[in-house]
Amino acid sequence: MNFQTIYTHTYMQKKVKGFSKLSKEQKIEWLAENYFSDAENGKKILSSYWNSDKKLQDLHDDFIENAISNFYLPYAVAPNFLINNKEYTIPMVIEESSVVAAAALVAKFWSDKGGFKTTVISTTKIGQVHFMYAGEFTKLHSYFKEIKPKLIQATDSITKNMRKRGGGILDIELRDKTAELENYYQLHVTFETKDSMGANFINSCLEAIATVFKNEDINVIMSILSNYVPDCLVRAEVSCAVSDLYPKNAQHYAEKFIHALHIANAEPHRAVTHNKGIMNGIDAVVLATGNDFRAVEAGVHAYAARSGKYKSLSGGKIENDIFSFWLEIPLALGTVGGMTKIHPLAKLSLDILGKPSAAELMQVVACVGLAQNFAALRALTTTGIQSGHMKMHLNNIIKQLQATPKQTNYLLEYFKDKTVSHSDVVAVFEKIK
Ligand code: MEV
Repeated sequence: MNFQTIYTHTYMQKKVKGFSKLSKEQKIEWLAENYFSDAENGKKILSSYWNSDKKLQDLHDDFIENAISNFYLPYAVAPNFLINNKEYTIPMVIEESSVVAAAALVAKFWSDKGGFKTTVISTTKIGQVHFMYAGEFTKLHSYFKEIKPKLIQATDSITKNMRKRGGGILDIELRDKTAELENYYQLHVTFETKDSMGANFINSCLEAIATVFKNEDINVIMSILSNYVPDCLVRAEVSCAVSDLYPKNAQHYAEKFIHALHIANAEPHRAVTHNKGIMNGIDAVVLATGNDFRAVEAGVHAYAARSGKYKSLSGGKIENDIFSFWLEIPLALGTVGGMTKIHPLAKLSLDILGKPSAAELMQVVACVGLAQNFAALRALTTTGIQSGHMKMHLNNIIKQLQATPKQTNYLLEYFKDKTVSHSDVVAVFEKIK
């Protein structure tokens, strides 16, 4: 066979028609035939993650097209978060070993020092109808002014329930974007969506508005919400006397901590990692509560770059011997509708959190982000992060090796003051086995 024949053969074999109509077993069979290096083992792995409760499995299968199995992530809780004088135990979904441990540790640390204080700064969201128009602006402007009440009216049936809950469309503006792109304008619509994240609501409103707005001169390109939500903003803060921050050399380490914050503001390479640490906590709660972590991620990073330079989301200062540390972050979250309603674990998470409103959830999530950032900066500016990570890593390796309790104790003691590497742990384990 020459190269071309091999290529054609592989191509023919792997192209499939009507895949979505196949049963789950048929889909797996096709995968096994075409992709698995060990067909039986691959099939076994997939089926081992099926839920024995058929109703629950069907629910998960229905979330997305072509579902063939479930992908588990650990579901944990971090207790002892004191937020605005209220105790919370916070559910978190994440695979990174140190994140929940750090959150729990930091929550305990701050609960003795007055806990976290939060403020919801704003809760509005944006959707846009993007369109092209080549005529005179004054004409467009008069048309918009005249038709604006009709645009709102067009959404009446969609916004009825939301209005009852105190939300709805707050304003529609005509924005001239021709300086950025020739003939480009938009209807910039501001929404209040109360306890729902509001993506479907916003998009339905925008499509209804666009239908009424378009005419032979207005070429509507698309109607879609924006995941950039700088006016859906929450602030979380902690503070204490500098002397309470560290057992020894508190002033020195507190100053190092503040330097670390300034570095994250000055240097985008560091800012990205700094903010990633914050997102470790944010995403874990966003996921556990069935919210859209991609929307949150996109919005948060755009916010971090709002000045034109990517910067830290958190800040801090030492003033009159008081250390304060804060985080300001845009979060579009929901506690009703979507996944929060249909995923049993998302529902349970909201139960654990005391059935919060979306605004309360914003505050809880921001605190976990701040806690995570505190843990990272405290470790980085004192011992470094590797010692903590390596302890976790050692525990994971010991588990993989299926060491007995006696062997486990020996390995933990042996590596107490040594650098942990997978090969070293295996070598010592082999020796003592
Ligand atoms: C690791 O997941 C997160 C950190 O890198 C965050 C940071 O550097 O601030 C530890």
